[in-house]
Amino acid sequence: MHCIVLWTQANLLTSNSLFDLTGKTAVITGGNGGIGLGCARGLAKSGANIAIWARDNDKNAAATKELQALGVSACSYLVDVTSRQDIENAIAATVSDFGGVDILIANAGLNIRMRPEEYSEEIVDQIIDVNLKAVFTCSQLLYPELKKRGGGKIILIGSLTSVQGFGVAPIYSATKGAVVQLGKSLAAAWGADNIQVNTILPGWITTEMTSVTRAIPGLPEHILSRTPAGRWGSPGDFEGIANFFASTASDFVTGTSIQIDGGFTSTLALFDLPKD
Ligand SMILES: NC(=O)c1ccc[n+]([C@@H]2O[C@H](COP(=O)([O-])OP(=O)(O)OC[C@H]3O[C@@H](n4cnc5c(N)ncnc54)[C@H](OP(=O)(O)O)[C@@H]3O)[C@@H](O)[C@H]2O)c1
Repeated sequence: MHCIVLWTQANLLTSNSLFDLTGKTAVITGGNGGIGLGCARGLAKSGANIAIWARDNDKNAAATKELQALGVSACSYLVDVTSRQDIENAIAATVSDFGGVDILIANAGLNIRMRPEEYSEEIVDQIIDVNLKAVFTCSQLLYPELKKRGGGKIILIGSLTSVQGFGVAPIYSATKGAVVQLGKSLAAAWGADNIQVNTILPGWITTEMTSVTRAIPGLPEHILSRTPAGRWGSPGDFEGIANFFASTASDFVTGTSIQIDGGFTSTLALFDLPKD
């Protein structure tokens, strides 16, 4: 699980920027693709070293290589976030490789879509374990490491469904609503330790997770017709907000959430008045 950390030029740069992350280390669960990798790119471009925790070895290796090319140190660790033992092992390895952890982005997520009456108990547990229990466990087990550094940043990933229901994803929606409340509670508990906890609520984003949704006839067009930005989001849309929540620029921002959805949740419908 160990890897060699290269202290490259990016680690040695100094800057006054509020957004500078030079010398910081971020753990990103599910950072090997999609929104997690988008967040990783945003942090790496501001100088942070990145530890990716995810299960797929090939995707981990490709993402790590890409981040290293940005001039920072990046390592990946094989972690199933539903395993407490995996998380404990990964914390030990990450701290040993990087010297500590300053930022957690609890991004790994799972959505299995079906009508409420169709769920088995096993699938219910699976979704809750990844989307809620693991988010809590990663935060809880990394808390002593952030505290040791004199403070830190925890960024949780909610969803449109944190604030809106979704008839074909009731358990996913429930976990994403709960993540927002978890973020508020962790912010309250750890504020005195200079740890800020905030939640990003993505809208409709083109990643592996939405490949099934995007294939449903008519649905992509329906989504566009309700989105003021007039497009789907992409992982690149998360670089800036992840950088903000990970940096000193957000030191007085905690226990809150922000929608990165091109305006989808802010709008009842998109139509103009008829011309007379
Ligand atoms: N895409 C959207 O439109 C959208 C909208 C709202 C919210 N979100 C949320 O954004 C987050 C990222 O989603 P995404 O769209 O980027 O999805 P994605 O492309 O499917 O990526 C999910 C990531 O989570 C990792 N992961 C899943 N289960 C894991 C486990 N048990 N242990 C460790 N890693 C695990 C996967 O890596 P491995 O398979 O290698 O483990 C993968 O990197 C999720 O929390 C999701 O709910 C997405």
